[in-house]
Amino acid sequence: MSSKLEVVGLKKAYKSADVLRGVSFDVRDGEFLSILGPSGCGKTTLLRLLIGLLAPDEGHIYKDGAEITHERPDRRGMGIVFQNYALFENMTAKKNVAYALRFHGMTKAEAMARADEMIAAVGLTEHADKLPRSLSGGQQQRVAIARTLALSPDIVLLDEPMSALDVATRLSMRAELLRLGREFGTTLIYVTHDQEEAFALSDRIMIMDGGEISQLDTPENIVAHPANAYVQSFVLDNLRAKVDSLSRFTGGIGGGA
Ligand SMILES: Nc1ncnc2c1ncn2[C@@H]1O[C@H](COP(=O)(O)OP(=O)(O)OP(=O)(O)O)[C@@H](O)[C@H]1O
Ligand SMILES: [Mg+2]
Repeated sequence: MSSKLEVVGLKKAYKSADVLRGVSFDVRDGEFLSILGPSGCGKTTLLRLLIGLLAPDEGHIYKDGAEITHERPDRRGMGIVFQNYALFENMTAKKNVAYALRFHGMTKAEAMARADEMIAAVGLTEHADKLPRSLSGGQQQRVAIARTLALSPDIVLLDEPMSALDVATRLSMRAELLRLGREFGTTLIYVTHDQEEAFALSDRIMIMDGGEISQLDTPENIVAHPANAYVQSFVLDNLRAKVDSLSRFTGGIGGGA
């Protein structure tokens, strides 16, 4: 796989506090990359720099080999899904999707046809004409994802998109997200502070601590070769504790796995 996104020496400070202290990494075309780290380590700041809602103090961002560090957000071919969905409350699910397309220059007929297609892709055809307040959290999240994918970004950034959902909805949304990523060939960068979610979804995981990357590798390699004591405790010991707390039940569920 070729490099879709390349980040070199990205730094950002607020007043005197360093939030990102020189972050460098690459993301491969079509990859599912999770960014995993505790609250306040700089995950959202990094996403905002990638999509251009914030300017870095230092460093460079390249997409498909071309520098985009100072490119306008709407010219980066990236989409973002925020944690709180941020739907327009006075527009139906379908109009939420169509609005963004109209904004980007499609005719009304084109926008409605594309919105229908995207609403179907996330399994919401029956709910297309409902307002957000009449949709469940998971359904609202699907609208937010459909709205972002409708513009055909080749990179989608997701900032803790599942944190407001119940466990069952999360599990079905995970499968949906993986399917959509594959279907549209999208490169996905997924921010989470949930170790299990990162391990379940990702081709590779970037583990952050205090504005730096502790390790960026496949789930298998992180388990086999944790880079330092932080990765061992924050990631692996936490995962182990989850597995242990469930192990006395799993023998009885589905024959144990
Ligand atoms: N506009 C701002 N002005 C000053 N400090 C900020 C600003 N935005 C973020 N910070 C600080 O930068 C640090 C990183 O914030 P960021 O939102 O990137 O964290 P995060 O990893 O996304 O955390 P969480 O998991 O809680 O969402 C935090 O200490 C935060 O208080
Ligand atoms: Mg955040």
